Amino acid sequence: MSTHTSDIKWLFEPRTVAVIGASHDPNKIGYKIVQNIVANGYAGKVFPINPKGGEILGLRVYPSVHDIPDEIDVALIVVPAKAVFQTVQECAAHRVKFLPIISSGFSEVGNLEEERKIVTYAREHGMRVLGPNIFGLYSVTPSLNASFGPRDIPKGNVAIVTQSGALGVAMIGKAAAERMGLSAIISVGNKADIDEADLLEYLVPHPQTRVILIYIEGVKNGARLVRVLKRASKEKPVIVIKAGRSKRGAIAAASHTGSLAGATEVFDAIMRQCGVLRAESIQEAFDWCKFFATSVLPQGAETVIITNGGGIGVIATDACEKYSVELYDDLQILEKIFSPVTPEFGSTKNPIDLTGQATAEHYNRALEAARHSAAIHSVLALYCETALFDVASFEPMIEGNFRAFQETGKPVVFSALGGEKVEQLTETLRRRGVPIFADVTEAVSCLGALYAHYHYRSKPEEVSQSFEIDTKALKRVLEAARREHRAFLLAHEAQQLLRIARIPVPKSAIARTLDEAVRYADEIGYPVVLKVVSRDILHKSDVGGVALDLDNPQEVADAYGAILHNCRAYKPDAVIDGIEVSQQVSPGTQIIIGARRDPSFGPILMVGLGGIYVEVMKDVSFRALPISRQDAIDMLKELKSYPLLLGVRGEEKRDIDTVIDVLLRVGSLLLASEQISDIEINPLIVYEHGRGGVAVDARVLLA
Ligand code: COA
Repeated sequence: MSTHTSDIKWLFEPRTVAVIGASHDPNKIGYKIVQNIVANGYAGKVFPINPKGGEILGLRVYPSVHDIPDEIDVALIVVPAKAVFQTVQECAAHRVKFLPIISSGFSEVGNLEEERKIVTYAREHGMRVLGPNIFGLYSVTPSLNASFGPRDIPKGNVAIVTQSGALGVAMIGKAAAERMGLSAIISVGNKADIDEADLLEYLVPHPQTRVILIYIEGVKNGARLVRVLKRASKEKPVIVIKAGRSKRGAIAAASHTGSLAGATEVFDAIMRQCGVLRAESIQEAFDWCKFFATSVLPQGAETVIITNGGGIGVIATDACEKYSVELYDDLQILEKIFSPVTPEFGSTKNPIDLTGQATAEHYNRALEAARHSAAIHSVLALYCETALFDVASFEPMIEGNFRAFQETGKPVVFSALGGEKVEQLTETLRRRGVPIFADVTEAVSCLGALYAHYHYRSKPEEVSQSFEIDTKALKRVLEAARREHRAFLLAHEAQQLLRIARIPVPKSAIARTLDEAVRYADEIGYPVVLKVVSRDILHKSDVGGVALDLDNPQEVADAYGAILHNCRAYKPDAVIDGIEVSQQVSPGTQIIIGARRDPSFGPILMVGLGGIYVEVMKDVSFRALPISRQDAIDMLKELKSYPLLLGVRGEEKRDIDTVIDVLLRVGSLLLASEQISDIEINPLIVYEHGRGGVAVDARVLLA
């Protein structure tokens, strides 16, 4: 059994490619692939394979892999599903490295068993499988078009990884129509083996790839994908289009964390955490890709809008807010830069208004001023058609400035709105790679994506923080539950778990006698709460098993007697383990903190506004674990209710450090044991700054 699992480079830059199932029939996929490989001028050697032998497109056809004299880096499989396994076995004997399996008829139609058998066999023999159920791959470096998609793939800097084959083929067509050059396009299909994370290993360092677009339907090994994406986004922009905004997976959830962790919310949050840009539509993704393929990165956050119309300037300003593009607002410096180039009735406040009289020359001067100013880092140049518009001067003005900005190393985006002539101009310039849009919002969305990427790159590398957990103590608590075949912890066990993680819980003790109850109450301090401890009584307060606001020993003694009496009356044979005496927690801000194992992404963490309205407000944020302290802070800042923690209307600031601390500790707890599937604290009561907080109620579910 060999273990020569190969470097992913040989998938993208194979020296030899075999096509198993190459056909003489021009209507078959096995012919089209050979045709595309030949037509695209592949730099390596091609070996069509078909038992009939002969020639295809002038290439000698080999009856079997065994007849090929060379080592094979990539063997594309284009035979019917039932013949695939045997073909894979033959490839193993010939030490093939990569097996893109075009054939359909596997897990996508329920035939998971055959797919597993093939992948297991391939992996055992040191081969990696791409697909099955794919259209193939294109890779610019060896000039390889090993797909049955379009023949003419425009060369460029955008790499596309797609789970959908049909959409991938359509995207090739669209890329050509939009003059968007590709450095690679690769279909992952059923992702039985190779997935996005594997492919990024090649694409991230690949010099010709400037931007990576991923169309994703489902995530399989999410924890690994998160690690890879985090690093990838530091190097180059990664754009994702995610299909399937379903709530599937959340339905059967047994905790708030589960039901709030809808697939979309978690996916969105984790992509943001990884610095990945999520596009709303294919058009938006393409716009971003084209922009990234030509744009330089900004040197700072200050943007200036230059316009000839007030209205369009306002729309752009709104869009800048929406897409988090910062507008430069130092009025004095703006005036210094722009007053020499702004007409009399114009404005030098951002947006810079060159007025309806602005000609190409006015734009030239204003753009040049912006380009030379160190205070301005990027520019949005807008134009509304006026009677003064003429193609002859605007076309060179826009293109000339774009090139000049590129050389200076400053991003610029244009938008031009108007009639047929303006539209034609826009079209012509777009074809030449100038970032110009009819709709100003599209222009701002591109700049917003650029800035999201810029900010992620500029963020200092954070070390994830974890707290040490006494695993022996943890094991003891979990084993007690296991012994009783419970998939959850009892309240006091859950509390014990929190104590192990040093999460503050109310002081409490279980009394077995009246004397003990009074003594514990004295020790804990008044007021206290008494609660029956019995697994036979589920809804404790309904049967009179709970007493609140007990202010002195006499009240404790009375309540003790009353609780026992009520419980016996309710269920005479109930086993009563004792009465819990606990500190009565004073009111404060209620926070919910949860951690669970997401079916796609593995361990995730949630924080939000807690209490009984949590499901209604749905004000929560998520991250994949592990996280850094800064991530924890960012999670809180993402909440709409974050101002409540800062203190509203003269209220004092809450103890945010305690929330962060508990958040990190809950994360550490989940990571400390594979046996824990869900931890949820609701509420964590948080007091004023410096006064801490306390986890009042906790639920823990076991895997
Ligand atoms: N070794 C080599 N060649 C073999 C072979 C083997 N073990 N078994 C069959 N072949 C040859 C056949 O003889 C045939 O060549 P021919 O035309 O010269 O006779 C060729 O391979 C193809 O086999 P055929 O039975 O004609 O199948 P097909 O071309 O109709 O379909 C697939 C094959 C793989 C394309 C088809 O089964 C399939 O899965 N189609 C869907 C593909 C798809 O959509 N993928 C996802 C895209 S997103």
